[in-house]
Amino acid sequence: MSSADLVPSCPPMISNAPTGVPPTAAVIFGATGDLTHRKIIPAFYHLAKNCLLPDDFAIIGFARRPKTDDEFRKDLEETLRKFSHTQPVDDKVWKKLSARIYYFQGELDDAEAYKRLAQKLKNLPESAKIGDSYLFYLATAPTYFGAAAQNLAAAGLASKNDGGRYRLIVEKPFGEDLKSAQELNRTLQSAFAEKDIFRIDHYLGKETVQNLIYFRFGNSIYEPLWNRRYIDHVQITVAEQVGVESRGGYYDQAGAARDMLQNHLFQLFTLTAMEPPASLDAESIRDEKVKVLRSISTPTPEYLQKNVVRAQYGGGYIGNKAIPAYRQEERVDHQSLTETFVAVRFEVDNWRWHGVPFYLRTGKALAAQFTEINIHFKRPPSVLFAASADKKIHRNSLRIRIQPNESISINFNAKIPGKDEAELVNMDFSYKSSFANYLPEAYERLLVDALIGESTLFTRADEVEQAWRLVDSLHDLWSKQKIKDLPLYACGSMGPVESDLLLERDGRHWTRSRELKS
Ligand code: BG6
Repeated sequence: MSSADLVPSCPPMISNAPTGVPPTAAVIFGATGDLTHRKIIPAFYHLAKNCLLPDDFAIIGFARRPKTDDEFRKDLEETLRKFSHTQPVDDKVWKKLSARIYYFQGELDDAEAYKRLAQKLKNLPESAKIGDSYLFYLATAPTYFGAAAQNLAAAGLASKNDGGRYRLIVEKPFGEDLKSAQELNRTLQSAFAEKDIFRIDHYLGKETVQNLIYFRFGNSIYEPLWNRRYIDHVQITVAEQVGVESRGGYYDQAGAARDMLQNHLFQLFTLTAMEPPASLDAESIRDEKVKVLRSISTPTPEYLQKNVVRAQYGGGYIGNKAIPAYRQEERVDHQSLTETFVAVRFEVDNWRWHGVPFYLRTGKALAAQFTEINIHFKRPPSVLFAASADKKIHRNSLRIRIQPNESISINFNAKIPGKDEAELVNMDFSYKSSFANYLPEAYERLLVDALIGESTLFTRADEVEQAWRLVDSLHDLWSKQKIKDLPLYACGSMGPVESDLLLERDGRHWTRSRELKS
C-alpha cells in the first residue's frame, strides 16, 4: 500500500522535505511524558497528515505505568487535540495513525524489559508488513540515556554495522559538562554507529535556522561582506518571556548556560560564522560548524571575568501575569545560584572573524519572546558625511528574525526628503507574506530526517563536546566565585544592567527588538 492509504485525502507534502521513509517501528521511551504528548505525537500526526509516513508504520510507547493500548491512544488524542498546531485535528488521519500506536509497559533500567520489547516488535499485528527498520527515541530523563542504549544492545536491538537498521534519537540535555558528554558519547557509540545516533537540538528543525545556509551561501550579495572587513560585530539573542514555570527541578540543576547557550545559541552562532561547506551533505556542514567552535580558544578566567554576565530574575509582572522571583519558584533552592540569564562575548580566532566580537545572550522572564541574529556592519569611511552632526551616517545592520514573526530585514541610510540628513530605512522580507502559511514544526522535520537517516540537522559527537568545552569554562569560573547571591534583573526587563555594560564598554549596545513596546 502507498502512503496515500494511511491518509485518504492527502494535501500536498511539506515542500522540500525529504521523502522515502522506510517501513519502520518507532519506539518512544518516556511515552507518557510531556515531550511525547506535546511534540512527538503531534509531529507524527502531521507527518501522517502530509503523507510522509508509509502505511507500514508502527509507534510503540515504552513507559512505566500500566496502561492498555486503548488508554494510551486516548491520552495521546486528548493532548493532540490541545497541542496540535493545526486545528481542528483531522479525525480520519488520527484514526488511521492511532490504530498503529501500541503501548509497552517496562522499566528503563530493566534489561529484561528490553528483551520482552524485542519480542513484542517481532509479534506486532503488522509485523508482516513492517520492514526491518527501528527508530528508538529517548525522550526520557537524561540519566537513562546510557542504560537504555546498553539494554537495547543487549536485547539485540542495536548494531554498529547494520547500515541504518537501528537508529537512536537522543533528546537534550546531552550531558551536563564535557566529561559526562564524552562518557555518554562512548556509551552510545558502543551500541550504535555514530551515523545512526541523532542528537536533537530542536532549533535545527526550525525553517528559519535552516534558512541561514540558504541565505548566506545561496546569495552572492552577502557572502563577500561576511567577514571582519565589513562586519563590526554580531549579536545573537534568545529571549523568553516565560519563567521556569513547572520545570524548576530540572532548571535549577541546569541554568541558562547549559539549557540554552550550549545548544540553541551555539547552533545559531556556528551557522552564522561557519565557512562555506564543501557540499551540503551532513558531514561537510557539521565539519564547518565544529571548526568555528574549535577556533575559539578556551577562555581564561581573566577573560571571562570581564566578558560573561549571569543573573537571576526577581519577581514581578509580565503583562498581567505575576511571576515569582526565581528563588521562589517551585522546586528551586531558595539560595540557588543558578543563572536564568547569561550574556557572553566570544571571539572566533580565524581568518574571517579575527577581531569581530560575537555577543550572545539568553534569559527567562524577559520583556519579550523573540530569537534574532543581528549583524552590525562597519560604518563607511567618514570622509563625506562626518563633518557635521546632522549629516551623521548610521551603521547598516541586518536583522535575522528566527521567531516569532519570522523575517529578515536590512536597513540602510536614505536621504530624508527636503533635508540634508540621512535616516535608516528598512527593507523587509517576511515569511508570512512571501510563503504559504504552513511552517512545519521543528519536530516534524527532525523526525522525518531521523527516519531516513539524514544527519545534517542533528548535533555530531565532536560538536557537542566542543560546545561543552566552552560552557565548562564559564562553570569553572563560577564555581570558584564565592558569592551568596547573583545579580537580579527585573522580570519583564531585558536582563541586568551588566549585560548592557558588556557592550557599552566596547562602544556598542544591544539592538532593540521590534517586539519591545517603547
Ligand atoms: C528548550 C529549553 O530546549 O528550549 C527551554 O529547555 C526553552 O528552557 C526552549 O524554553 C525554547 O525553545 P523555543 O523553540 O520555544 O524557542
